[in-house]
Amino acid sequence: RKKIGVLTSGGDAPGMNACVRAVVRYGITKGCDIFAIYEGYQGLVDGGSFIKKMEWKDVRGWLAVGGTSIGTARCMPFKTREGRLQAAQNLISNGIDALIVCGGDGSLTGADVFRSEWPGLLKELKENGRVSQEECDKFQHLTIVGLVGSIDNDMSSTDITIGAVTSLHRICESVDSISSTALSHSRAFVVEVMGRHCGWLALMAGIATGADFVFIPERPPSEDDWEQVMCDVAQRHRHLGKRKTVIIVAEGAIDKNLNAIKADYIKDILTDKLGLDTRVTTLGHTQRGGSPAAYDRILATIQSVEAVEAVLRATPDSPSPLIGTSNNKITCGPLMKAVELTHAVAEAISQKNFARAMELRDPQFAD
Ligand code: F6P
Repeated sequence: RKKIGVLTSGGDAPGMNACVRAVVRYGITKGCDIFAIYEGYQGLVDGGSFIKKMEWKDVRGWLAVGGTSIGTARCMPFKTREGRLQAAQNLISNGIDALIVCGGDGSLTGADVFRSEWPGLLKELKENGRVSQEECDKFQHLTIVGLVGSIDNDMSSTDITIGAVTSLHRICESVDSISSTALSHSRAFVVEVMGRHCGWLALMAGIATGADFVFIPERPPSEDDWEQVMCDVAQRHRHLGKRKTVIIVAEGAIDKNLNAIKADYIKDILTDKLGLDTRVTTLGHTQRGGSPAAYDRILATIQSVEAVEAVLRATPDSPSPLIGTSNNKITCGPLMKAVELTHAVAEAISQKNFARAMELRDPQFAD
């Protein structure tokens, strides 16, 4: 009987609960025992009551619940060898030899490192008398399957990450609310949105709300006097009769020299150059909270079903898979390749190769 652990890691994302629910229920349907690992990798390191066998009824009502009900953490101990040894020991003592991890690229990289170290961890545990020879023989291989749960939509090799669409909805609702007060006072608003080093949320929110200007990390303004360019655009819109100005700035926005573009700076420009009464709104964690949109519930469910299938067909030699989505189809590709491509975006940005960054991020939006 296959024993599969499921955990959520990194920043929570709407839809993570739908993942856990689907892994539990589909896993049970396929005759597996499913264990929820509470508090992300921290729970794996701590073991004990943090690892709980799940029954069908345990995930009742989870589809519509935001965040992650099994908790998440950015775990330091798992980054150490001793932490991973402890985690391996806890998996073995619970009989778990497969892990489905829902998280961002850092969490998934951690999972793959853990898998690649597995034989060495096992050997060390055996040498230190922490596991028996029999256990060693039984748990020769660890299977890891990744699901990308992140509002940022910053993972390469998948079109969309679990939680991003909900977050985008939340941003749009907020910008719509801001629009009515902006219109009333004829004001300008600079809205800062999340996304870490990825501009997807900002760009899509700009399109969906008809923002006047958007700043994203992957394509900084090419002009030296971008402040003037932005003001000209805002001014032109005002001359067309628009009573509000909305500028959306990604939290990771930069200029072409890689200096951060901050919302307060944009506010000062709009105030000083155009005389606009300007406010800054940082949407913050409202963007991550709340019930998942239907799309994220569906995406999380069908990807998690595929994750269980991937565990069941995994062989010791096959690379850890990442479940993604491409052209509206569920995909299953090598996890590390996706992580490498994701890191290549950051590399391209740091080398000021913005066209490459955009292409790597999403070929759709390349020049
Ligand atoms: O990765 C999700 C995210 O919300 C990013 O958009 C943001 O930069 C970061 O996490 C915030 O992290 P924290 O919740 O730890 O402040």
